[in-house]
Amino acid sequence: MSSFIILLVSALLLQLSTSSLDSDIVGLLGRELLESAKEPHFFEYVRRIRRQIHEYPELGFEEHRTSQLIRTELDSLGIHYVWPVAKTGIVASIGSGDSPVFALRADMDALPIQELVDVEYRSKVDGVMHACGHDSHVAMLLGAAKLLQSRKHNLKGTVKLVFQPGEEGYAGAYHMLKHSAFDDISAIFALHVIPSLPTGTIASRPGPMLAGSGLFTATIYGKGGHASSPHNARDPLVAASLAVVALQQIVSREADPLEARVVTVGFIEGGKGANVIPETVRFGGSYRSLSAEGLSYTQERIKEVIEMQAAVHQCKAVVDFKEETPLPYPVTSNDESLYEHGKEVAEILLGKQKVEVFPVTMGGEDFSFYAQKMPAAMFVIGTKNETLKSDWSLHSPHFTIDEEALPIGSALHSAVALSYLNRMPDTMTCSIRSPSDTTRSDH
Ligand SMILES: *[C@@H]1O[C@H](CO)[C@@H](O)[C@H](O)[C@H]1NC(C)=O
Repeated sequence: MSSFIILLVSALLLQLSTSSLDSDIVGLLGRELLESAKEPHFFEYVRRIRRQIHEYPELGFEEHRTSQLIRTELDSLGIHYVWPVAKTGIVASIGSGDSPVFALRADMDALPIQELVDVEYRSKVDGVMHACGHDSHVAMLLGAAKLLQSRKHNLKGTVKLVFQPGEEGYAGAYHMLKHSAFDDISAIFALHVIPSLPTGTIASRPGPMLAGSGLFTATIYGKGGHASSPHNARDPLVAASLAVVALQQIVSREADPLEARVVTVGFIEGGKGANVIPETVRFGGSYRSLSAEGLSYTQERIKEVIEMQAAVHQCKAVVDFKEETPLPYPVTSNDESLYEHGKEVAEILLGKQKVEVFPVTMGGEDFSFYAQKMPAAMFVIGTKNETLKSDWSLHSPHFTIDEEALPIGSALHSAVALSYLNRMPDTMTCSIRSPSDTTRSDH
């Protein structure tokens, strides 16, 4: 592993001499990263963190143990932080404390999935699993914390490390943003593991990358009764069935065929006995679009279609979009100049052949809430290695990663932040915000 990183950093130094990045960055990234890369314990450090978190996965806003582990590591690195932010979240600061302030983000929560991967560090919590790689995101960011903290005196500004709760449908990012720790942040960067790309391949794209995405649940209220006397009942099952069918037309008949949208019904619950007409039926699903207009139009039509289908069948419907969460998540759109910056740093670190353009997908991310407030860019890092069978999709009970990607992610995180702060005065002044008083508390 460490010889690989030495190779990687030598390549970086070679390329830097001809690149447009200024010489300070050659000094910082080259000398400092090279030193850390020689550190044999670095890979073991990030792997240990990832495995410890993997063993004890926690659902959204319940990441107490994970949060404690992160704070213990930050304490031992001597890094100051603010906590709690949005219940379990942490915002740590490295550097002068002055602007510019660049943020790196990791999410902490797991999913309600029973793990089927047979490894010694498999989930010890029944029915809960890190199947979206958030354990790796935390490990990579703590790795970056280690790299950055040991060169904090060279930082031309401040790096904030954002560890957030509840990405999986809880809008954790939205709740984090309410805290004053975010007031002085100029821009934010995130890395997500991806099992469709080979280990260490980096990808992203400028502009919209992930869909805006919401959830709905509908309850149809009818009148229960005996299966033999449907005329005395109001059958909510028939109303729900036709509503589910009618929902399919919102995309197929009402959306521009060149514009991507999705409506998927994911569950339906109703009735218990074959000779009983139930009182109520519940169903729910997900809707997605690549534009804010598409999202609000689809939401409006889901409500109308369900309510009207219920009325046609003499039932009533209540549709809930969990707007208080809040949902939907906005479209995740990458800031173009921050994307260019991340891409350039990744190419210098890993070589152009390891950096790809990521296709737009209809997945959703609450990182979009940050992107609405400040220049933001999300990149993915490949974790696919067929020998390790780490090519199962995100959210699969078989999902696993090639841990060799972790130190690469830490190096990229820290290189993106360091070079952003270095470049800030000349090329990225457009995104400087006026610094406001932040809460700084020393744990
Ligand atoms: C995949 O993982 C195996 C086992 O760790 C390793 O020997 C191999 O080099 C990896 N392959 C790639 C392409 O990284």
